[in-house]
Amino acid sequence: SNKTAAVAAAAGWPMLKGEYKTGKPDSCVAVVTCGSHLDDDALIEAGAAISGSCKTENLGIEKLVSHIISNPNIRFLIVTGAEVKGHITGEAILMLHQNGIDKNRIVGAKGAIPYIENLSEDAVKRFMEQIECIDMINVEDIDEISEKIRECTAKDPGAFPAAPLIQDVK
Ligand code: LMR
Repeated sequence: SNKTAAVAAAAGWPMLKGEYKTGKPDSCVAVVTCGSHLDDDALIEAGAAISGSCKTENLGIEKLVSHIISNPNIRFLIVTGAEVKGHITGEAILMLHQNGIDKNRIVGAKGAIPYIENLSEDAVKRFMEQIECIDMINVEDIDEISEKIRECTAKDPGAFPAAPLIQDVK
């Protein structure tokens, strides 16, 4: 095939603390389970490079974006699970990918705090370009998500043609 060979993720990837599990860093799929705690081990087993929750429209999303753009092998983000009470984080992820930010606010996000403070404009642009987002919000069925992971890995386009981009998210 013409696909670009896997490249090295940033040293120590994934660098930030959070509630997630990791698999092979050269996989092209990341899974976010939003406010749901799903069986991350099963999703890793199905082929995901990383799978975990993301609760807030600000810090949670910043960490998610940081983990994705520091690993050019990731080309698909599957957005699953239920929205956490008080936030609309899954929708904010899709909106960030689709629309980017305007003066730090995620364009089109309806949640309470969709403010990006720790990512550069280049980082947001990179997130928009590096991956395809797959909307499976409210899906919690492990078999259904695993099937989507396998579908994505089967069409892996290869690494995004740029070095890992590192953002210092605190
Ligand atoms: C979140 O998932 O939004 C936060 O818990 C992220 C974090 O590490 O504080």
